[in-house]
Amino acid sequence: MGPAFEIEQQAAPMMILQTKGLTKRYGELTIVDRVDLNVTAGTRHAIIGANGAGKSSLFHLITGRLNPTSGNVLFNGEDITGRSAHKVVKCGLSRSFQITNIFVELTARENLRLAFQAAYAYTSIWSGLKIMRASAEKAQALIESLRLHSVADQIAGTLSYGDQRRLEIGLALAAEPKLLLLDEPMAGMSQSAANEMLALLRAIPRSITLLLIEHDLDMVLKLSDHITVLHRGQVLAEGGPAEIQNDSRVQEAYLGKPIAPENLSALHA
Ligand SMILES: Nc1ncnc2c1ncn2[C@@H]1O[C@H](COP(=O)(O)OP(=O)(O)OP(=O)(O)O)[C@@H](O)[C@H]1O
Ligand SMILES: [Mg+2]
Repeated sequence: MGPAFEIEQQAAPMMILQTKGLTKRYGELTIVDRVDLNVTAGTRHAIIGANGAGKSSLFHLITGRLNPTSGNVLFNGEDITGRSAHKVVKCGLSRSFQITNIFVELTARENLRLAFQAAYAYTSIWSGLKIMRASAEKAQALIESLRLHSVADQIAGTLSYGDQRRLEIGLALAAEPKLLLLDEPMAGMSQSAANEMLALLRAIPRSITLLLIEHDLDMVLKLSDHITVLHRGQVLAEGGPAEIQNDSRVQEAYLGKPIAPENLSALHA
């Protein structure tokens, strides 16, 4: 390979995740339909679409929880189609755990410490004691960035909903993923809890790519660089927030009405 080729490669944005013709059928029903997704490394990429559009199913196909009927999933250019969920996590792709994955009878701090210990056990040859110490330090640092310091030593099951959801993201971050998938991180939250979540997501370093599903359009516009709109399993539109807002097909199919001026202003917040 000559140097000219290398320069060309650097100029092109690196795709951390791609799907090619990804499809899931249940009998006659096609819930994910030939989806080509291109997620650039370092971006905050949102997937939006009405209820039942196939968003969560698309995540399940990417993370190995569901097997596609056809099509492929590429992570860093490597074909990971059909790999088990466990193997997908090992290659650097993580999704936020459901609430039930928090150990509700342990404290927030203990949850994070265990998550780091598990991650170290995968990747390092350190002794148990060294792993325990490093995990405790990392847990402390993460507690600060998750804004959980005031409740760190409380039993996780007793934390508020918002605190539990942020803890959940902390557990996913402990695996030090390259790509983090979040399925509706702000669902069911009060405005103030949603704003705390937004601050947390914005503070995640760009070395971690975020791919998120979110219904709260205001939050999507505040957070994302790129948006893919799913409609009945298919990609209806994609582009930057401004493009998506002005797309008449999106307004009709997904929003059912023109976007309210207060949402347009969110773009410039
Ligand atoms: N195991 C299954 N068998 C048959 N149909 C399914 C199955 N799982 C999901 N579906 C259907 O696939 C479609 C897409 O579901 P999915 O949960 O991916 O949508 P979604 O976009 O995440 O919706 P929401 O916004 O409500 O979370 C829905 O119509 C759902 O009923
Ligand atoms: Mg869903």
